[in-house]
Amino acid sequence: MTNSFTPIEILRPTVVEFGCGTIVAAARFAERIGARRPLVISDLFNARRVDQLGLPGVVKVFGDVKPEPDLPNLEKAVAIAREAAPDLIVGFGGGSAMDLAKLVAVLCTGEVAFADIVGAEKVAGRSVALMQIPTTSGTGSEAGTRALVTDPASRNKLAVQSRFMLADIAIVDPDLTTTVPREVTAATGVDALAHCVEAYTSRKAHPAIDLYAIEGARLVGRYLRRAVADGGDREARAGLALASLYGGYCLGPVNTTAGHAVAYPLGTRHHIAHGLACAVIFPHTLAFNMPATSAKTIAVLHALGLSERNVPVAAFEATYRFCADLGIEMRLSALGVPNDDLGVMADEAHAIRRLLDNNPRDLSRDEILQMYETAF
Ligand SMILES: NC(=O)c1ccc[n+]([C@@H]2O[C@H](COP(=O)([O-])OP(=O)(O)OC[C@H]3O[C@@H](n4cnc5c(N)ncnc54)[C@H](O)[C@@H]3O)[C@@H](O)[C@H]2O)c1
Ligand SMILES: [Fe+2]
Repeated sequence: MTNSFTPIEILRPTVVEFGCGTIVAAARFAERIGARRPLVISDLFNARRVDQLGLPGVVKVFGDVKPEPDLPNLEKAVAIAREAAPDLIVGFGGGSAMDLAKLVAVLCTGEVAFADIVGAEKVAGRSVALMQIPTTSGTGSEAGTRALVTDPASRNKLAVQSRFMLADIAIVDPDLTTTVPREVTAATGVDALAHCVEAYTSRKAHPAIDLYAIEGARLVGRYLRRAVADGGDREARAGLALASLYGGYCLGPVNTTAGHAVAYPLGTRHHIAHGLACAVIFPHTLAFNMPATSAKTIAVLHALGLSERNVPVAAFEATYRFCADLGIEMRLSALGVPNDDLGVMADEAHAIRRLLDNNPRDLSRDEILQMYETAF
């Protein structure tokens, strides 16, 4: 475990604009840097409202970002960017669009291949400006240095981490999220919560990040139910947008642990959306980790307004109920995961050492399998 004297490097976007109506900062920034050829990387939903950004010059849109983007999707976006020769890349959407925007920004100018930059700090530089505008409250990708793409051949998520993928400006306008459907609101909200909780209880947890982590959990506890019940509740949407941003602050210097590692095969092998996968796994890893990090787990339960008993099975039941009451389907069988794949999923999750090595408690392959079986 770390303490206040452990060195930590904290990287943030140069500018963060937060609050209702801050979308106007997009045009202001683009004008200020003299952008003439902005390229917006977006999903289908957000591509239809790019005009709201009021960008100057000849605006190109790649509106074909798939949820949980894969390598062919990235290659398509990079090809369009190389042809358009943009001077500003704008990620406009959820984590899928923002992750692709990061990669396009560092791949569109040179001849560098994606395979050469997988891993940590393998990118040599970036020569186009980068703006990130989240439209879901979940990933916190706008604040971070990582991007994730699925390799269809190995069915693994490949992670690229680079300081050059950090945005010049992140614009977090909660009003952009009022249209997010109920089930996406619920799942992405638990993703933000999982970023905060996993960083808070990580072996690498740090006091300089803990305050964002626990406040992020408190904001989810206070506002997620409200935003699910009424998508137009602007106060709740703003609270969740802040929780998501704080989750993003947790990801860079500390990052996630077992929750995300155990969740990944659900997405890569069975196309379950990232937030939903994290929500299904969240109660299992939280309860498993509790004996190793009981004071912090109790603080999380308190932040969520749940029963604070120092009993893993009670913590499991309380957090499971929290997710299920949001309308989240918590059973792998109901989500289309075949029983005979659980073993391979456990092998794959157990191999994600970059996350599992920081989990507060060692988690064996068979313990992961047991979690999948319980969740089935
Ligand atoms: N970079 C990171 O640190 C990080 C962290 C967590 C997750 N991720 C990645 O982010 C991706 C998931 O992102 P996500 O959960 O935001 O989902 P997403 O970006 O895939 O979006 C989910 C769906 O919501 C729609 N949508 C987005 N905004 C909307 C709006 N305002 N109104 C209506 N519909 C809207 C999209 O079109 C899409 O169909 C995954 O690939 C995951 O691996 C990255
Ligand atoms: Fe996540």
